[in-house]
Amino acid sequence: MSDASHEQIAQAETLKNAKTLVVNDLVKHFPAGRSGFGVKANKQWVKAVDGVSFDIAPGETLGLVGESGCGKSTIAKLILRLEDPTSGSIKFEGREITDLKGDQLKDYRRSVQAVFQDPYSSLSPRMRVHDIVAEGLRIHTDYSKSDVRTRVNDVLALAGLSPDVGRLYPHEFSGGQRQRIAIAKALVLDTKMLILDEAVSALDVSIRAQIITLLKDLQQDLGIAYLYIGHDLATVGHLSDRVMVMYLGRVLELDDSIELVRNPKHPYTEALFAAALPSNPDHIGDTSEQPNAEVPTALAPPTGCHFHPRCQQSMEHCSTHFPQEVKLTGGRRISCHLYPGD
Ligand SMILES: Nc1ncnc2c1ncn2[C@@H]1O[C@H](COP(=O)(O)OP(=O)(O)O)[C@@H](O)[C@H]1O
Ligand code: SF4
Ligand SMILES: [Mg+2]
Repeated sequence: MSDASHEQIAQAETLKNAKTLVVNDLVKHFPAGRSGFGVKANKQWVKAVDGVSFDIAPGETLGLVGESGCGKSTIAKLILRLEDPTSGSIKFEGREITDLKGDQLKDYRRSVQAVFQDPYSSLSPRMRVHDIVAEGLRIHTDYSKSDVRTRVNDVLALAGLSPDVGRLYPHEFSGGQRQRIAIAKALVLDTKMLILDEAVSALDVSIRAQIITLLKDLQQDLGIAYLYIGHDLATVGHLSDRVMVMYLGRVLELDDSIELVRNPKHPYTEALFAAALPSNPDHIGDTSEQPNAEVPTALAPPTGCHFHPRCQQSMEHCSTHFPQEVKLTGGRRISCHLYPGD
């Protein structure tokens, strides 16, 4: 084989292994209080994201699961550049996103889109659906009016909507249809990564299943990378290739979703599956299982393993020593004293 062919194969291999997103030791601490006139600066910090690392390959879905307040949306906002990290690195297609400026930043904003739980936040109530979906094209391209119409109709069709809906307003749709509009809007440009932050959480079960099927089909056709954020492990596991479990700003467990669902190892992941968490912050107010259990927050995380006050397998040193993350045989990442490493 010639040197040139070797080089081509090596290049193809590099491209195949290239990750869409690589996040390394990402940290975001928010000041817990504001200083101002007559108000003393509060030196406490909310450690919303506290040293998180993961990657996503092209066409892959990484699920991110954990209870309310564990830092999921903050990670989404950091990737979308709606927040600046305290420290750490976010690389998109090999480039540090905090360094992007001008045209490179514009390209990045075209490539990375998001769909949130409440589509009203991204669907302006006073605009017709056609104009809402076309907005990205107006900002980022010099398409003619007829090209815009064709593209908008194409993505509406991709999202399972007829071109007729273009002249209607968001309030004329049901929740599921509005999420389809939000998905069409997110796909109108050449999207490479989609962040789905609780995108189906508010939908009825049957509508949720339809939207999940749509998202899976779109990914298969378009090869987009997904960061799929949710608080329900069963749903997240169903849609994702790999699942990352977070608790109070940190990753506790990460593995292939089939492996993780079949054999959850971390006590927190097990509890998420069994829905047996005392004082689940997703159901604040329902403290029937353990009335005295406190809901932990990222403002004052428990010492040692943050999960220890709620863990049924907690040992003496769990309250004093934070468990370092280890990689088990097979590649699972886990942070728990029950798993000191192979
Ligand atoms: N702008 C902010 N200022 C202060 N604290 C924040 C801010 N945004 C989020 N937080 C806090 O960071 C933690 C993580 O929040 P978030 O990322 O929204 O969690 P999740 O999406 O998993 O529910 C929470 O304790 C939340 O109150
Ligand atoms: S480190 Fe200890 S407290 Fe934390 S999850 Fe593991 S066993 Fe439970
Ligand atoms: Mg959130």
